[in-house]
Amino acid sequence: MSAFPPNFLWGGAISANQAEGAYDVDGRGLTKADVITGGARTVERKITYIDSSGQPGELRNKRADIPPGATHAVLPGYYYPSHEAIDFYHRYQEDIALFGKLGFKTFRLSISWSRIFPNGDETVPNAAGLEFYRKVFQECHKYGIEPLVTLSHFDTPLYLEEKYGGWNNRQMIDFYIHFAKTCFQEYRGLVKYWISFNEINHPLMIAELFREENEKAQFQAIYQQLHYQFVASARAVQLAHQIDPENTVGCMVAGVTFYPGTPDPEDILHNRYMWENIIYYCGDVQCRGKYPSYAKRLWDKYEVQLDISAKDLEDLAAGTVDMYTFSYYMSSIVTTHPNDDVVSGNYSSGVRNPYLEYSQWGWALDPKGLRYLIEKLYDRYSLPLMVVENGLGAVDEPAPDGTINDPYRIAYLQAHIQEMAAAIAHGAEVIGYTAWGCIDIISSSTGEMTKRYGLIYVDKDDVGNGTLERRPKQSFYWYQKVIASNGADLDQ
Ligand code: BG6
Repeated sequence: MSAFPPNFLWGGAISANQAEGAYDVDGRGLTKADVITGGARTVERKITYIDSSGQPGELRNKRADIPPGATHAVLPGYYYPSHEAIDFYHRYQEDIALFGKLGFKTFRLSISWSRIFPNGDETVPNAAGLEFYRKVFQECHKYGIEPLVTLSHFDTPLYLEEKYGGWNNRQMIDFYIHFAKTCFQEYRGLVKYWISFNEINHPLMIAELFREENEKAQFQAIYQQLHYQFVASARAVQLAHQIDPENTVGCMVAGVTFYPGTPDPEDILHNRYMWENIIYYCGDVQCRGKYPSYAKRLWDKYEVQLDISAKDLEDLAAGTVDMYTFSYYMSSIVTTHPNDDVVSGNYSSGVRNPYLEYSQWGWALDPKGLRYLIEKLYDRYSLPLMVVENGLGAVDEPAPDGTINDPYRIAYLQAHIQEMAAAIAHGAEVIGYTAWGCIDIISSSTGEMTKRYGLIYVDKDDVGNGTLERRPKQSFYWYQKVIASNGADLDQ
């Protein structure tokens, strides 16, 4: 018997900048992702620019701003994985047909903001961009697949970042709302599930785990940017409901399950604060419509002064989300004690958990952590939950006959789906699950193809070679069976 409700939304997920390619086609403008080079687990991606005297330059991605007066630029001699990605832009029909074959009930994708508004501050949208997504959504419906659309997935138009300072500027709220409203109106009847911002808490996670010397300035900027995004999201929720009462809008939080490293009360408290600082801060505002009490602790600690108007607070209260969506890949240990046995792998950076295994990229594999997270979130918000990212990034080696056997991926997905079923049996309302990178795409953190999540293999390497041919992996057939049985048959 299945633990999952009859209309459970099984599916897969991708984002525009990691899949579409066609970065300069049909009037699309640049985003930050287009000026970030390829990398690897041990080779950090670079961001490229031209400085004020016209000299090319590069900088480690995400760690600092480019020099004053410089502009981000695509430079000769560098490889930028987003430019072609897996060419979903031209191959979406083939890909969606494969998703149809898998039996997907939903497909999560994002709209590239700069396809619709190339600079971001135009009043009139780019018709070719609108048309592309219309065709994608229509194609989904051919197979009975409900699109689940993220409006902003790490790809603000570059022009908005450079001319206005991105989300440091309150004007961004209006640009975002114009974009969101255009999408809600254009795709009325085609899309009813929306996510306002992907992993909105991502900057908090990075700032907490990789502290910079000037942390007060860093947190001041992050909390202000987040405030504008909360208001933008809340206004978008209200608009979505006005335009079509069928619309369901979710927040999207990067979910990591934190455990205290020792029973020392200091660790217990520190662990609790990590949940608040990183996981709850955004969800509390977006689900409850107001800042939580512990925001005082955080704002005081970093001496933060925020631009928050009375109208903002009204909007936050009026625009709470309909569902809580989140990603989950790993758990992490939190301790105030020195410890030499550390692992480094994205959000798992920290103390090694002796009870867990780690992925080839150092991410802690912890299916029970998913159950723990779901139960905690449902207990806190009592809102429908959707797991919109979960999966294993691993190296896949095609066999000599071309087949791709990935029992490790099946084992990962199976264990996580089992724990999700246990959380549902516990009483949590989970309405959907979209496996991340259901077709191999560019890794967001490292820019590689080698780190594959897909149920469908894409023939492409880390520097752009390959035919881009699509091939179902062993996990494709397994997931097909899981969906057909509504999660009752998880056997390998
Ligand atoms: C999430 C992002 O952080 O994790 C995705 O929303 C990303 O865009 C995913 O791809 C997995 O991370 P990575 O770095 O392995 O691609």
